[in-house]
Amino acid sequence: FLVAALMLGGNSTRFRPLSFEVPKPLFPVAGVPMLQHHIEACAQVPNMKEILLVGFYQPNEELNRFLLSAQQDFKVSSRYLQEYAALGTGGGIYHFRDQILSGSPEAFVVMNADVCSEFPLMDMLNFQKEHGDAFPLHYITLLYGCIKLHYRSSISRHVLHYVEKPSTFVSDIINCGIYLFTPDIFQHIGAVFQKNQQDLIYPYEGDEQSNGWQRAEAIRLEQDIFTALAGQGKLYVYKTDRFWSQIKSAGSAIYASRLYLNQYHKTHPERLAANKDGGPKICGNVYIHPTANIDPTAVLGPNVSIGTGVTIGAGVRVRESIILHGATLQDHSCVLNSIVGWESTIGKWARVEGTPSDPNPNDPYSKIDSETLFRDGKLTPSITILGCNVTIPSEVIILNSIVLPHKDLNRSFKNQIIL
Ligand code: GDD
Repeated sequence: FLVAALMLGGNSTRFRPLSFEVPKPLFPVAGVPMLQHHIEACAQVPNMKEILLVGFYQPNEELNRFLLSAQQDFKVSSRYLQEYAALGTGGGIYHFRDQILSGSPEAFVVMNADVCSEFPLMDMLNFQKEHGDAFPLHYITLLYGCIKLHYRSSISRHVLHYVEKPSTFVSDIINCGIYLFTPDIFQHIGAVFQKNQQDLIYPYEGDEQSNGWQRAEAIRLEQDIFTALAGQGKLYVYKTDRFWSQIKSAGSAIYASRLYLNQYHKTHPERLAANKDGGPKICGNVYIHPTANIDPTAVLGPNVSIGTGVTIGAGVRVRESIILHGATLQDHSCVLNSIVGWESTIGKWARVEGTPSDPNPNDPYSKIDSETLFRDGKLTPSITILGCNVTIPSEVIILNSIVLPHKDLNRSFKNQIIL
C-alpha cells in the first residue's frame, strides 16, 4: 500500500491579506479548497491508505472540518501532523517518519501543497515500477528548480545534477514538487540530520536569534537531499507535459483556477456552470456554488469562481475573478482580474479591476510572481484583492489595489495598498 504526505508549510505571508482568514492550503481554487485537488488525485490511486497533512499551522476548526469532510467524501483516512517549527520539507517528513512508515508502505508520495497540477500519480507509479527508488516529477516550462539530465530513454531520466533555483540557465525542466519515495529516502535524510547535528548545533549555540538546534533539524529536500543524490543513480525524473503551476501569491490563485476549471471538462463536468433559461449568461469556464443567488441578467466568465451564498445583482459583469463566500456584487458592478473577499460588498456601478500577472509559458525565464510588490517606488500592477468584509461604495473605481480586511472605502483608488 501507499501513503501520501502533503506539505502545507505555515505562515503564508505572500498570500496576505487572504491568509488572515483561512490557511492558504484551504483557499478555494476553482470552487474547492486548494488541497482538495491533491486529495482527489491521491484518492484515485488504488491502495492509498492514508493522506497525512504536514505543516506548522496551528490546527483550527476549519482544518479539522476540511479533514473530516475529505475523509467522508474520498474514503481515505487523513490526519494533520503539526511540526513544532518549520523543519523544511525534508525535516518535516523525517520528523514524522514513524507515522509515514507505520504499517510498512512500499512507497509514499510527497506533494507541495502550493502547486496546482493534474497530478498524474498513476503514471508516476507505473514508471516507478519499472525504475525503483525516488524520482521527482517534472514539467517543462518555468526556469526555477532545475535539473541536468542524462537521458536513458524517452521517458526514463536519471538525474545527474540538481540545482535548486539557479540564477543562470541550467535546464528547461522544472521540479514540480511532487515526489514518490521508497522508505530508504529516510536513510539519506537521516544521514544529513546526523551531520547537521554535529556541524550546525555548535556554531549557533548561545546565539539567541538563530535558535541553533532548530536549524540543525531543518532539512530541505531539494538543496540538502536531491543535490547529493543526483549522480548516484538514485534519483529519477518523471517528465510530464500535463499542466502545472505554483500558487504562491493571491494572483496565482486566479491563474490556477483557470487551469483547474479547464480540467473539470474531463474530471468534474458537473462543477461547470452552463447557460440555462432563467440563469445568468456564462462565457467559458465558470464555477458557481449552488447556494449563490445570481440575477439572470449578470454575465460571468471566463475563469470565474463564485462561492457559497454570494449575491450577484442585475447587469453585473465578472471575468477572471474569484468571489468568496457571502460577498455581494450590487447591480451593474463590474469585477475583472480580482479576488473579492468573504462578506465584502461592491456598490452599484462600481468597477473593481486588476491587471493579470500570469506567467508567459513561452518565456523560458518567466516567473509567476514578481519579486517584489514595488518596482521603481511604485506598486507593480497586479490583480486587485479585497480582504474580508470590505465595502466599496457605488460608482467608484478600484484599480490594481490591495484592500485590507474590514475597510469601508469612500472613494476611488488606483495602484494602492489600502491599510
Ligand atoms: N511541512 C512543511 N514544513 N512544509 C513546508 C516547510 C516546512 O518547514 N517549508 C515549506 N513547506 C511547504 C510549502 O508550503 C510548499 O508547499 C512546499 O513545502 C515547498 O515550499 P518551499 O520549500 O518554500 O519551496 P519552493 O516552493 O520555493 O520550491 C519548491 O517547489 C517548487 C515547485 O513548486 C522546490 O521543490 C522547487 O524545486 C520546485 O520547483
